[in-house]
Amino acid sequence: MTDSPPADAPTEPTLPVAKPYSPGLEGVVAGDTSLSYIDGAAGRLLYRGYRIGDLVERGTYPAVANLLWTGEWDPKHRLPTAAVPGPVIDVLRAIPSNAKPMDALRTAVSAWGSTQELPWPPTVEQARALTAFSPSALAAFARLRSGEQPIDPDPELDLTTGFLYQLTGERPDPGTARALDAYFIVGAEHGFNASTFTARVITSTRSDIASAVAGAIGTMKGPLHGGAPTEVVDQLAKVGSVEHAEEWVRDALARGERLMGFGHRVYRAYDPRAAALRKVAEGMEHKPDWLQMAIEVEDVALRILAEKHPERPLRTNVEYYAAPVLMGVGLAPDLFPATFSLARHAGWTAHALEQAANNRLIRPDVNYIGPEERDLPG
Ligand code: COA
Repeated sequence: MTDSPPADAPTEPTLPVAKPYSPGLEGVVAGDTSLSYIDGAAGRLLYRGYRIGDLVERGTYPAVANLLWTGEWDPKHRLPTAAVPGPVIDVLRAIPSNAKPMDALRTAVSAWGSTQELPWPPTVEQARALTAFSPSALAAFARLRSGEQPIDPDPELDLTTGFLYQLTGERPDPGTARALDAYFIVGAEHGFNASTFTARVITSTRSDIASAVAGAIGTMKGPLHGGAPTEVVDQLAKVGSVEHAEEWVRDALARGERLMGFGHRVYRAYDPRAAALRKVAEGMEHKPDWLQMAIEVEDVALRILAEKHPERPLRTNVEYYAAPVLMGVGLAPDLFPATFSLARHAGWTAHALEQAANNRLIRPDVNYIGPEERDLPG
């Protein structure tokens, strides 16, 4: 035993340090974008200047994706799902049926890239092709893992309706299709979050759009990013009833637990995506029977969070109402994170286009905190 630290353990920096470092790059501006604007204090989210609530009420996911890619608002824009190339189906068949859907989707996007010509710079056509491919790939995996055959796209159906059709073999009713489409709209884009930043870094090396999106999916897989409406569902099941809400919330906070679906790094006001999805959830024909309880539990949770954290506004976030919407459209809970990734394809690919249009290799500095220059022993 020796008291001295291992030779290469971090030490107090003695070589000159380049610049101050912000852990997690918090507060660091790492680019310019005209795709979305997030006003955390006021609870505002705009895509190319348009309010998220208006886009959910009057838009469709294909129109919103096209808006992000091109800057043009064409409410009639269509985007059916695309066929999965044969070699990609072979890859999906080879994936174990107990694999996580996020792993299957990331692998499918990578395999798809190997079947395409994807010259740099990325184009709107490439963005559209990849965004149209991925729902078919996820649906194919979901069927293959339960011993069913994949279903070919129906070119008459738009992206989210087509996705549900390829999952279930049945055309969803318009209310269900509309609810999932609304979820896709609110999930489409959200600034320089970790997965989008990944997509931009990859694009900045002049790598292709499939690599950018495969990397972004890998980033989104992490529990700190991918969101977990599944956990909201579990938590509400534990609460059980409105009568138990107060006691349950107080006990959970006393145990140091976090309430799922509350709090956000950026939003201090009510997350506008949660507000939009709450309306959608309430309007659904097949809403989960616990929705009314969730609405009442939300009030209790907000009241107690305000009491416990008077210094820090903790409000409802998007995940809280994503949970009833995704349950209501009939998705298996383990498909929630990959479904979120499908929605975010529009944003990732739009950022790839934006990065390429004004590209500079993303290569930040790092402060060296290792040993001083020294001689090799012996
Ligand atoms: N429930 C209870 N307390 C919460 C909370 C929550 N959902 N979110 C934050 N807090 C508390 C923290 O415990 C901390 O209190 P402390 O200072 O006494 O330790 C304080 O608020 C600040 O927390 P911090 O981690 O700095 O907040 P953040 O803004 O960095 O965290 C989240 C953002 C989203 C990670 C966090 O709010 C969270 O974990 N939420 C629950 C998970 C969730 O809904 N995720 C989906 C996000 S879209």
